[in-house]
Amino acid sequence: MLSKIRPASLLRKKIGDATLKKDLGVRCISSKEVFDREKKYGAHNYHPLPVALCKGQGVFVWDVEGNRYYDYLSGYSANNFGHCHPKIVEALQKQAQILHHTSRAFYSDVFGEYASFVTKLFGYDKVMPMNTGVEADDTACKLSRKWGYRVKKIPQNQAKMIFAVDNFWGRSLAAVSASTDPQSFEGYGPFMPGFSCVPYNDLNALEKVLQDPLVCGFMVEPIQGEAGVVVPSEGYLKGVRTLCTKYNVLWSADEIQTGLGRTGKRLAVDYEEVKPDILVLGKALGGGVYPVSACLANDPIMLVIEPGTHGSTFGGNPLGSKVAIAALEVLEEENLANQAAELGDIFRTELRKKLSKDIVIEVRGRGLLNAIVINKNYTEAWDVCLKLKENGLIAKHTHDNIIRFAPPLVITKDQLKESADIIVRTINSIDTNKV
Ligand SMILES: Cc1ncc(COP(=O)(O)O)c(C=O)c1O
Repeated sequence: MLSKIRPASLLRKKIGDATLKKDLGVRCISSKEVFDREKKYGAHNYHPLPVALCKGQGVFVWDVEGNRYYDYLSGYSANNFGHCHPKIVEALQKQAQILHHTSRAFYSDVFGEYASFVTKLFGYDKVMPMNTGVEADDTACKLSRKWGYRVKKIPQNQAKMIFAVDNFWGRSLAAVSASTDPQSFEGYGPFMPGFSCVPYNDLNALEKVLQDPLVCGFMVEPIQGEAGVVVPSEGYLKGVRTLCTKYNVLWSADEIQTGLGRTGKRLAVDYEEVKPDILVLGKALGGGVYPVSACLANDPIMLVIEPGTHGSTFGGNPLGSKVAIAALEVLEEENLANQAAELGDIFRTELRKKLSKDIVIEVRGRGLLNAIVINKNYTEAWDVCLKLKENGLIAKHTHDNIIRFAPPLVITKDQLKESADIIVRTINSIDTNKV
């Protein structure tokens, strides 16, 4: 008979005695067993930090041995509202018992409620509901191309999409076709035609390409997340808006990582008070409990897509719609964008003041989307992440020398200070003389 496998931490609380465990026929699963099983049966497309999580609450997660960690990745910013936020979990549970999925082949009494809520909050006529980030970005490209043919009158099949160097918008064939990172695109060709890139944060380069009358759209992250939290110069987003308007090109802002309070405003584009033609949201829109993504646009753009010409089986389902409403309500009710702005300033100030300048070359970011750049002469970002884990904080590197710090926005000031102390203590204890 198969013995039941339970996380050791839960068992320890319940029994705490080896004999009893045996009597109950319950076997504790260790971190090592979790690693081995996942490695054996799961595809090797990730290289996880060696930590086996079994529980999350607010800003904390616990491993199967009962160790507690600050979560400084927040599920790649999907968990802006923390683990198991009661309002979001309640919305999920309640709706799951009523009506979870219909497809948009029929109307539901929930999708319209969500659509009216999200469009009013962000000031657009319509929302196109999707599930994952990459689908929503792909939708933005499709909208731009179709608008290019219908409205801008670009000759059929000649529309061009422009992206920024070092963009990241997911793993589909279209997304990797737009990527400039060999890790993302190598081995996956042939690639999507009509895609090209200009340097990020370079308005002159952008203006040159936008003059081409075949260009239908420019998609860009207001802060490049996966590239290592690259914040553009002030005025860049305003410049993008001006140029896209001047050359009649649709601007899609990929706010999948930066949106929903993460950078200290509801949207990162709000820092420059500009409005993209297509706003792309994902990750935290599903409250970390369910995949929900969206493209928002006004009617002259959104209505180029007609019935049967684009869709998604799960997009706009009642469960995801209720969860998204709850997530957006939490963002507003708990004033999380302002909190992220305030705590982000404290965080960067602490790190800049206290971190060894030999080991950390730069501390950068906005709100609670931050990163440090490690001096590779002294250590690797991966090794720092391992040490941080030993000291009770989990974070993940992006590239060899950059570590992103993105805790849930519900973190308190005390928790932020305690976790900043962990980061400072860990990094400053690295022996620079050994190199
Ligand atoms: C800016 C941005 N866009 C799109 C995506 C893709 O989202 P998903 O992994 O949900 O497809 C990501 C994921 O990290 C992202 O950071």
